[in-house]
Amino acid sequence: GRRAFSLNTRKVDCTGKEVSICGWVKNVRKQRKHAFLAITDGQTVKPLQAVISPEQAEKLSTGAAIQVTGRWQSSPGSGQQFELNDVSQVSILGQHDAEHNPIQSKYQTQEYLRTIPHLRGRVTSNAALLRLRSKLIASITDFFDQQGFIQTHTPIVTSSDCEGAGEVFTVSSATEAKDGPQQANKETKVEPFFRLPKYLTVSAQLHLEALSQAVDKVWTLSPTFRAEKSDTPRHLSEFYMLEAEVCFTRSVDDVTQIVENMLRHAAKSLSANGTLEQLQEIRQRAMKEATDEDAKLTTPETLQTRWQGLISPSWPRVKYAEAIQLLQDHVRSGDARFENMPTYDSGFNAEHERYIAEHFGRGSPVFVTDYPRVQKPFYMAPSTATNEGADWGDTVACFDLLVPDLCELAGGSLREHDHEALVVGMADKGVSGENLEWYQDLRKYGSVPHGGFGLGFDRLICYMSGFGNVRDVVAFPRCYESLPP
Ligand code: 4AD
Ligand code: MG
Repeated sequence: GRRAFSLNTRKVDCTGKEVSICGWVKNVRKQRKHAFLAITDGQTVKPLQAVISPEQAEKLSTGAAIQVTGRWQSSPGSGQQFELNDVSQVSILGQHDAEHNPIQSKYQTQEYLRTIPHLRGRVTSNAALLRLRSKLIASITDFFDQQGFIQTHTPIVTSSDCEGAGEVFTVSSATEAKDGPQQANKETKVEPFFRLPKYLTVSAQLHLEALSQAVDKVWTLSPTFRAEKSDTPRHLSEFYMLEAEVCFTRSVDDVTQIVENMLRHAAKSLSANGTLEQLQEIRQRAMKEATDEDAKLTTPETLQTRWQGLISPSWPRVKYAEAIQLLQDHVRSGDARFENMPTYDSGFNAEHERYIAEHFGRGSPVFVTDYPRVQKPFYMAPSTATNEGADWGDTVACFDLLVPDLCELAGGSLREHDHEALVVGMADKGVSGENLEWYQDLRKYGSVPHGGFGLGFDRLICYMSGFGNVRDVVAFPRCYESLPP
């Protein structure tokens, strides 16, 4: 009997057998005696070829969903190992308006595709991004599981602004006005979520800290929200953050080591399972076909270098003060030129961060540690906490992970675990203890040195895929001043 084969079952040897395949037409190439049909089910970069008659090809066009029944045979053509031949049946599975289809088989720019997020997953490169995200989550889940971390779920609606930056979205509940006579034009009264001010979370960290102090190692991958007016290729209003928290830490390196090992594990396993190869093929095609320069910025070779960097051992660590010094030295010796001179007090801007990642690393990401306290949120522990006697000045035991082209990929720190010091730190930063009593409580009962990190998951997808804009690697991006479907 006939069985519906998914295209990715090509691994199974069914040479000579009659198979039925479901997918979408990528392209039809009509010749006098035959027509060559490229079909995909979205699972592979390379479509599958079916050789059909000109009559069978008559009603087919790019984008139509079809079922094709034929014999699976080795292909005489050079483009593919196998193809579907002796096709007995081609049926169209649903409506398809070929004339108005916004997705065409020719190259379409990411900028254009951003206007049709509900359709762009059908483009080969965008489908590859969906697969990358899925494989990456699987690999990271596997890493944490092996390392004894517990995956947890933290709330989206919270009453705290973890980063204290005031970049929160407020949650309201819309209720119909109950008072007054029924009007044709009913008024809607918007009030805060159950009358208390509530926000969409900017980070799961505070809740992770609570859970960590019950079971030591925890992690989560959850949506986070920032009401910052940053209109850049790296910023979204809604993004996924990968966060982890561990207890019994001695130094910031206990945390950086987890980030490094996790990303190395992911890059290794995704190289081994063919994901990197697919992404390089996508880059290769972009080099050939792209009509927009942006799409050509990351070559297949650059992508290879990035992944090798992720896999390479012992990523460099450089202290903030040293990094500033190095940047200034590079400017003085004429090796570097910046619009703004980096100074200890002004901190890094994106331009400096990119330079650090490109020049102080060895193709790998770079950890910059021990930033001045004034630049960082209230919860960070002082550098001196783990470097008794050393003269660190007023720096905190933290790090930013910087990568070439993209800047900041992750950030983390040791957390202040002393109750009094935390209270002082909050007061210094003007963070009111309101709604954070529970967080202070954690320092009263079985308090323990601990730390963790948060990594911008969508930025990681950008870095590993070579796509330059987070708006292109998220299926339905929400960002400053734009909310498509
Ligand atoms: O540096 P951030 O703000 O750190 C925190 O929120 C900590 N509480 C995390 C922790 O220690 N658990 O954010 C962490 C990462 C950044 O390094 C960046 O990669 C990403 O989240 N990120 C964004 N990604 C996309 N769009 C935005 N608007 C982002 N803001 C931060
Ligand atoms: Mg940060």
